[in-house]
Amino acid sequence: MVDMRVQIGPLELRNPVLTASGTFGYAKEFEGLVDFSRLGGVVSKTVTLEPRAGNPPPRIVETPAGMLNSIGLANDGVDRFIAEKLPYLASLSTRVIVNVAGKSEEEFVAIVERLERESGFDAFELNFSCPNVKEGGLAFSSDPKVTERVTRAVRRVTSRCLIVKLTPNVTDIASIARAAEDGGADAISAINTVVGMAVDVYTRRPRLATVTGGLSGPAIRPIAVARVWQIAQQVRIPVIGVGGIFQPEDALEFLIAGATAVQIGTAHFVQPDAAIRVAEGIENYCERYGFRSVRQIIGSLDTTSPDPSSAAAISTE
Ligand code: SIN
Repeated sequence: MVDMRVQIGPLELRNPVLTASGTFGYAKEFEGLVDFSRLGGVVSKTVTLEPRAGNPPPRIVETPAGMLNSIGLANDGVDRFIAEKLPYLASLSTRVIVNVAGKSEEEFVAIVERLERESGFDAFELNFSCPNVKEGGLAFSSDPKVTERVTRAVRRVTSRCLIVKLTPNVTDIASIARAAEDGGADAISAINTVVGMAVDVYTRRPRLATVTGGLSGPAIRPIAVARVWQIAQQVRIPVIGVGGIFQPEDALEFLIAGATAVQIGTAHFVQPDAAIRVAEGIENYCERYGFRSVRQIIGSLDTTSPDPSSAAAISTE
């Protein structure tokens, strides 16, 4: 029996596998398809203070090994989230993390203050990294001073676990992660999507109405693993790895590189139970290779020499 528990700040997860914001709705959409009690937790779709219609269509495009989206944080606003989505999330036998976004520091504080009064969830994930909105968006995780200031302001109004989700679209993500840590974050999620673009050569028009969007899926996984590795060496707080995880081996890459937990995102569009299969695969790997606790593999990367034979040696079946 492998001990699969991991600790994210004050929060214990039964296993290190979470669902990524925006790819799992508000969990209700997956009822009957997923046994929520086998997940480490769910991260809800981003909620904002006011309702948002989001960007005009087309706002999703399939790409080789990935997906471009430009949703624009469409959601019903915090009041309807509390009335209509939170009761179901609160009923789940897993950890619930509410992802929030604001256009300004004041809005981040206001939405967290509003939600802090409610029960039924365990943590906040601050979306400092949406590339598809004009106001806010990437601004919160592109300048360490802004990241630290806004994190600190939110930290003052919540005693819940506070996770900050960062963009990879910066020169030095580790310095932004350090700023979030200095501001009082309990953990870092990395990465959100990579800015990308696709063109229809026959009409010579962009495939997304907003021209650019956020690329997710296996195409970005090596970028995400590298960012997680860089961050993990620079902060003391846990890192949650996100980016193109479809298989258990993908998640293991993140854990070995230093992530304490992972989030499964784009995979949900093709396999609703992807997160559970990944959690099972990680457990099988631990059993097979003699790890009594999943925590033993976190940050266990051996950088002394790449091993060309390892691809053949590892199996999670
Ligand atoms: C979106 O709503 O545009 C995507 C969310 C995100 O990238 O944070």
